[in-house]
Amino acid sequence: MTTTKQWANPLRDERDKRLPRIAGPCGLVIFGVTGDLSRKKLMPAIYDLSNRGLLPPGFSLVGFARRDWADQDFGQIVYEAVKQHARTPFREAVWDRLAEGFRFVPGTFDDDASFDTLATTIADLDRERGTSGNHAFYLSIPPSAFPVVTKQLARAGLATPAGPDEWRRVVIEKPFGHDLSSAVALNKVVNKVFPEESVFRIDHYLGKETVQNLLALRFANQLFEPIWNSHYVDHVQITMAEDIGLGGRAGYYDGIGAARDVIQNHLLQLLALTAMEEPVSFNPNALRTEKIKVLEATKPVGPFAETTARGQYLGGWQGGQKVLGLLQEEGFAKTSTTETFAAITLEVNTRRWAGVPFYLRTGKRLGRRVTEIAVVFKRAPHLPFDETSTEELGQNALVVRVQPDEGMTMRFGSKVPGNAMEVRDVSMDFSYGHAFTESSPEAYERLILDVLLGEPSLFPVNQEVELSWEILEPVLKYWKTAGKPEGYAAGTWGPESADKMMSRTGRHWRRP
Ligand code: BG6
Repeated sequence: MTTTKQWANPLRDERDKRLPRIAGPCGLVIFGVTGDLSRKKLMPAIYDLSNRGLLPPGFSLVGFARRDWADQDFGQIVYEAVKQHARTPFREAVWDRLAEGFRFVPGTFDDDASFDTLATTIADLDRERGTSGNHAFYLSIPPSAFPVVTKQLARAGLATPAGPDEWRRVVIEKPFGHDLSSAVALNKVVNKVFPEESVFRIDHYLGKETVQNLLALRFANQLFEPIWNSHYVDHVQITMAEDIGLGGRAGYYDGIGAARDVIQNHLLQLLALTAMEEPVSFNPNALRTEKIKVLEATKPVGPFAETTARGQYLGGWQGGQKVLGLLQEEGFAKTSTTETFAAITLEVNTRRWAGVPFYLRTGKRLGRRVTEIAVVFKRAPHLPFDETSTEELGQNALVVRVQPDEGMTMRFGSKVPGNAMEVRDVSMDFSYGHAFTESSPEAYERLILDVLLGEPSLFPVNQEVELSWEILEPVLKYWKTAGKPEGYAAGTWGPESADKMMSRTGRHWRRP
């Protein structure tokens, strides 16, 4: 049996942050284990962590679902998910050892007996595999099921650790509500059973390597921070574009839309990391304090008819393939006004950012899949050239390429070779693929490991969730009264109104 002592290695934790951290004895229970997220992301991430030696030997994975499965059937499901979606190579020995810790509990959320069986299963694991009373519960289920599941966990005595050396944690996935008041209510439901320090809210963008690199870029260098303010920055554009459509996702997406799906969480978190002040340290509270300060200072800019845009993709051709429009996708109401494209203008009312617009946009079925943060600089105050020499000179920009081509680009003007003086934009690129031999772990690997380690830095607290809803809500209210979203052709960069919202101030969206 493994004991806590064997695993807590203070030298590793305290001395050198470059060394990998290995989770102590523990287990993970997944609710919603038959869902897409679990198959595509969670199960593969668990295997990848195990393959990298970051899980304890007695690690146990319990699946809970309304299926008549034995442990072996569950094992087969995990096996298929891992074979199909894991990032690291399949190794028989790693798999065999991991699979010894698989258990399945059949049941429904409202059935006391199923949760009692879960409690017995967990107690058995503590005894047989040394999970030592440390368990995380991953709620990969619709928020409407949070109240019943958290209540059941409390009733079955699973939500509270038996002693000071044990822990119980809950992991929740967005959507954290669909507006401010439902988010407040949801937070109350969860906090009634789990104290805030035991709640881990997943925003998987925060687990992405390039997103964490924003902190390194800004705070480990001297080069960027002096110009990271309204004296030099003209505006910031944060884009999350996807080329996929919403086939198969109507159940989740219809009535939710692009702004609630990703602006409320991923894009506002990216804004917070871009705009926040330097934290006093990288301890979780210091980081959150700074993010919260920025979110408190962030407001949408109106009039929304001109400063925001909302679109819905139409059928057409994309990448040589015929694709359906949203209203033809299975499961979407023919009258659906759900937006698949959203763009908003924000201001950050701090000394550093006053007067600098932050433009956020996201959409499905756009030209290509790309997420980036572009800090666009003001023009030089004076250009001692003939006007024709600088005709093709744009604005300097620093672009953090979040995905898929992870890295950074700097855009600036350079002389075109030749006798004449002609200045044109060029790019200087840093690419993860070229600079490092290691490949980046999947966001879910990082985040699941952090849950098991009890490392909360990358998980938004309820205050951040509520502030993000406060920022978005005036725009959502306006859209509700503003009729249907504007159609845009698949494979383009969104509706015309998105271009107009930029051109009214003489700016334009980047074409990544
Ligand atoms: C999810 C959204 O949070 O992020 C999806 O619900 C979106 O609509 C997905 O497709 C994109 O994630 P990634 O990591 O592929 O950019």
